[in-house]
Amino acid sequence: MSTLSDQLIATLAQQQGTPLWCYDAAVIRAKAAQLKQFDTVRFAQKACSNIHILSLMREIGIKVDSVSLGELERAKRAGYRLTTTEGEAEVVFTADLFDRQTLERVVADKIEVNVGSLDMLHQLGPQSPGHRVWIRVNPGFGHGHSRKTNTGGENSKHGIWHTELPQAIAAVRQYGLKLVGLHLHIGSGVDYDHLQQVGEAMIELVKQADHDLEAISAGGGLSIPYRDSDEPVDTAHYFELWDAVRQRIADHLGHPVRLELEPGRFLVAESGVLVAEVRASKYMGSRHFTLVDAGFNELMRPAMYGSFHRISVVAGDGRDLSAAELQPTTVAGPLCESGDVFTQGAEGVVESQDLPVAAVGDLVVFHDAGAYGATMSSNYNSRRYATEYLVDGDASRVIRRRQTFEELLAAELLD
Ligand code: LLP
Repeated sequence: MSTLSDQLIATLAQQQGTPLWCYDAAVIRAKAAQLKQFDTVRFAQKACSNIHILSLMREIGIKVDSVSLGELERAKRAGYRLTTTEGEAEVVFTADLFDRQTLERVVADKIEVNVGSLDMLHQLGPQSPGHRVWIRVNPGFGHGHSRKTNTGGENSKHGIWHTELPQAIAAVRQYGLKLVGLHLHIGSGVDYDHLQQVGEAMIELVKQADHDLEAISAGGGLSIPYRDSDEPVDTAHYFELWDAVRQRIADHLGHPVRLELEPGRFLVAESGVLVAEVRASKYMGSRHFTLVDAGFNELMRPAMYGSFHRISVVAGDGRDLSAAELQPTTVAGPLCESGDVFTQGAEGVVESQDLPVAAVGDLVVFHDAGAYGATMSSNYNSRRYATEYLVDGDASRVIRRRQTFEELLAAELLD
């Protein structure tokens, strides 16, 4: 739930217009501090890759995981060093394939790679002996808050299948690659039963690999409490569990092993809100709709996964809503799609939330939208990317201005 006050949100919406993303830097710092026991915290920037957010991460000692050339470029512009020749990498490129351009760049800049297929090893190896690589293993099981965020098991395309680890190690040896470590990320949405299982799998895999390693990565997937009933992750317990795994691996290898964590959502989800203005209010039979000026082209999670986001209403005219009567309402956007509904469950079932009755001109705030919010936005319906604003004391500022129509059309104006 956002820490930004209603008053600040109203002021920013007034100044910047809506839809508007607002992030609170203090929340990001506080979340990062909860993970300080890990040797390396590597931000999965796909969750929120604005250059200014990445710069903030860099300032507080967080490293970065990039999954595309675009993300590598963002990391570089935020001041991260792409090249790694030894020790802890500032940037790791994680993928299941190399497109041709990315392979070229990875080789040219000696970017550490977390490989998710044997083909990646065979494409990189001959061109770049000595290149630093991680092997991402699919341990044969996974877990996620939705089927679409489960990244393990036979239905997932991610990682090298666990029984093929020997072939991967053989390729590492054949090409003289430098194996940095093994990596497991079985999905988004942590659950402790699976975690135990992942830890045991990591130990087994290290033994099977029969190769020296510098580090292990526990991947990402730490959840956040989107609903009041969700338990926050116990990060101390999480660390203890992985620290024990790391210790057993260090004993096995006979030297210390670095422990990496690769969270996305955990670091940024609670720092961000999407602010929209109510532009229409109407009934469809007995169902009340509140229509706002943000759509799933801004916040896609409800439409894509049936994800829940807490919603609050901020009065546009300063009236006090704290004691206002609540009414079930379906909050929806402006897109020409029936699925453009923020209050929906799995399989697109249209739902409602109990909210103060909102009038045109009031603001609707979608909470915990800092992860996979702006980064999953699109230009669908030819809507422009919204403004992003970072609240950080005296350094508060727009960190991405609203896209202009010229920019929206620029790549198509070929003559
Ligand atoms: N590492 C790898 C290799 C990943 O694939 C991911 C997420 C992460 C780390 C970070 O996971 P996190 O800590 O954020 O759960 N769009 C979805 C989430 C997709 C996650 C994709 N990979 C959502 O909105 O929930």
